[in-house]
Amino acid sequence: MKFIVKENYEEVCKEAFKIMKEVVDKGNSTLGLATGSTPIGLYNLLVEDHKTNHTSYKNIKTFNLDEYVGIAKSHYESYDSFMKRNLFSHIDINMDNVNLPRGYAEDLEQECKRYNELLENNTVDIQLLGIGANGHIGFNEPGTPFDSVTYITNLTEKTIKDNSRFFDSISEVPTKAITMGIKNILQAKKILLLATGKNKAEAIKRLHDNVITEDLPASALHMHKDVIVIVDKDAYSLV
Ligand code: PGA
Repeated sequence: MKFIVKENYEEVCKEAFKIMKEVVDKGNSTLGLATGSTPIGLYNLLVEDHKTNHTSYKNIKTFNLDEYVGIAKSHYESYDSFMKRNLFSHIDINMDNVNLPRGYAEDLEQECKRYNELLENNTVDIQLLGIGANGHIGFNEPGTPFDSVTYITNLTEKTIKDNSRFFDSISEVPTKAITMGIKNILQAKKILLLATGKNKAEAIKRLHDNVITEDLPASALHMHKDVIVIVDKDAYSLV
């Protein structure tokens, strides 16, 4: 696991862009994508690059990490909406090549199976990740077995509280999600984790400590041979 420490959020995004762009430039890559506030700056740079340099996504495939259960696909805070708003609507991607778990599916078990089969049949070239203040990756909360594959998860109180900033009130935050499991995430060829701000300092310190434990889902990444963690000084402040 390689740590890269940058001055601030903007520099973190620029560094992440360079790495992501190399994969996108191959033309027919498969990207594992993430939501949350952290990747927005990177998505802005990808959109700007598409507009300026005409970088094409025509043959790019994507798989998102997770999606809330219990809100409509069209809800402003669904991850489907988030991805369209921040990336897909601004690039030339073929929406048939875009994959997100369907948190609104009637049969959620069947949906987990469908999504998992897709992941098994496609190799993700680069998986982008954020990290929760509690060390979650995707919505794999502390205690998740490292051999987990796509499943329905209950969000922890901490995650619900952290995500309540996006909703009018905490009671509107979904309490469940469909998420790729940790095993799915580890199957990507390369993993790029971004973290900024003091709120992530404790999780980054624990990740840096190199102790592999299910209490810190992100620590599973130590078992992968190609992981780059890009952080700002605040997120690295306790290391
Ligand atoms: P954030 O979320 O980017 O909004 O901080 C990251 C995460 O919870 O995985």
